[in-house]
Order: sequence, then structure tokens, then C-alpha cells
Amino acid sequence: MPLEKIEDLKVDWDVKRTEVGEVEGIPLPKVICDMWHKIWAFQAKPDDLLIATYAKAGTTWTQEIIDMIQCDGNIEKCKRGSTFDRHPFIEWIIKTKFPTGLEKAEAMPSPRTLKTHLPVQLIPPSFWEKNCKIVYVARNAKDNLVSYYHFHRMNLMMPEPGTWEEFFEKYLDGKLLWGSWHDHVKGWWKAKDSYRVLFLFYEDMKENPRREIQKILQFLEKDVEKDVLEKILHYTQFEIMKDNPMANYTFLPPEIMDHSISPFMRKGVVGDWKNYFTVAQNEKFDSDYKKKMAGTSLTFRTEL
Ligand code: A3P
Repeated sequence: MPLEKIEDLKVDWDVKRTEVGEVEGIPLPKVICDMWHKIWAFQAKPDDLLIATYAKAGTTWTQEIIDMIQCDGNIEKCKRGSTFDRHPFIEWIIKTKFPTGLEKAEAMPSPRTLKTHLPVQLIPPSFWEKNCKIVYVARNAKDNLVSYYHFHRMNLMMPEPGTWEEFFEKYLDGKLLWGSWHDHVKGWWKAKDSYRVLFLFYEDMKENPRREIQKILQFLEKDVEKDVLEKILHYTQFEIMKDNPMANYTFLPPEIMDHSISPFMRKGVVGDWKNYFTVAQNEKFDSDYKKKMAGTSLTFRTEL
């Protein structure tokens, strides 16, 4: 039995900004920490596909691309439900009385495509045991930070962002939900050497979406006709997705996301950080980054 769609739920949302707890030192919404034993015990199936990201790295975009591939470019089929309902967000809990990400995943017929923001060490072990395919998308830290800041402003379930300066410091301290960006990307970068992880970059997707979609097709062992590829490219452009009510998060009630503060589909560009970072912040960020990213072969582009 599919669970009720989020936009059809007739409830008093009464949303409050979440309290923050910790699982193994990683800050997570307290409701998630309280249910952690259940999330950890999640039973993945061998044909599950997991889309993993640090929040604001291009998850929704990748979800839409993958759904369009799986639906052979049939946009009407992709509009069968919102991003939120098509791909259960495994660790997500709005409130325990509403369907949780786990319940949505369990109610979904296979093959399932699931979403997570968990760092690699917190992925439920069954994903590794079942050797599931995972698509990981990473975005350069500076744009990721700016996007996360605006997301905290508009998503009224996230902790108070405070000022830009305060948010910037929290990010450097790894104190934001889902923890340190640096550890997240490094952990997943390493995992790709041992597991079936396709590691993509937001900047590459912006630069050449056709090439990156072809990488996904290859990873999923899918072939599509040329006109289907053109359709996928068309419907997953920022400007088109921005107007797609099944992908732009306007399907959530305004009590959760207030797009008048900042739209979910905000700018969708590489390099917006330059409009926010002061010279002093940039220097601090770069020197901290150098230390935290020392010894990894992982590199990012902060402009195109
Ligand atoms: P900005 O806030 O920089 O605009 P996530 O889905 O992981 O939460 O990421 C959201 C970010 O991806 C937002 O970044 C959003 O605008 C951007 N985004 C969403 N769809 C996109 C698309 N089709 N092309 C480029 N960027 C997109």
C-alpha cells in the first residue's frame, strides 16, 4: 500500500526548528538520533539504488535525472509524485506521527531509488552487504555552504542559521546537520574504491550535463534513444525544474519551506560564493580547507 502523498496530508504541521542531537559525533536532527537504531537496521535490497550527497550538493537535480532515465524520458511518469515521495529519504523524519523515510522505503516496491545525506560511516550496513549501487554527488565547499545557508533560512525545520558570519563559522567547525563537509566528501571518495559508488561533481554536471548523464547511464547499465537523452537534458535544466511543481519543493507546505524567504531552486550556478565571502572569510576558509583536505586526491572547482 503506497503511503499518502505529502501534499495530500491534511494535518496541522506545527513545524518547529529542530533540536540537534548527535550520532557518533555527527550532528543530526534529534528525532533522527532518537530513532537511530531503526535507521541503522534498515534492510537494503540488492537492486536498491542510493543517491547520496552532502545536503545542497545537487541531490534533487540528480534525483530528477535518474528518475527520467528510469522512466525512459517520460515526463508525465516522472510527475507521478514529488521528489520527496518518489525517492524515500531514508533517515528523514518530520515527526514520528507522519510516514518516515524508512516507512516510505519499506512501502515501496522494488527496484527502489533512495536518498540519503548520511556520511559514509553512518550508512546502514545492509547497503554494503547487498553491494547496492550508489550515486554520490559532491559540490565545491564554498557554493555548498552558501546554498546550505539559504536553505536553513527557508526550511523552517532546520536549526536557526543565525547570521551569515555565524553560519560560516559553524560550517568550518563541522557543527551543521550531517556534519563536516570535508569528512563527508573524503569518506565517500574513499568508499568508491571498494564499493559500487559513482562519484559525480555538481560542477561537471553544470559544465557538461550530457557527459555526466552518460556516466550515470553507463553506471546503471541503461541505454536510451537519442531523443530520450535530449528530453532528459531538457527537463532537468535548472530553469525547467524550477517551474516543475513535482521537483521544486513547492509540494511541501509553506509551514515547512517558505520559498518567499529564498526559493528552493535558488540560483543553480557555480561561483555564487563570491557574492557572500568577504576577503577575510575567503582566506580563513582556504587555509582551513588546505589542512582538512591535505592528503586526499579529491579536488574541486569553485568556478567554471
Ligand atoms: P543553490 O542554492 O546554489 O541554487 P539539493 O537538491 O542537494 O538540496 O541541492 C539544491 C541546490 O541544487 C540548489 O543550489 C539548487 O538551486 C540546485 N539545483 C537544483 N536543481 C538544479 C538543476 N537542475 N541544475 C542546477 N542546479 C540545480
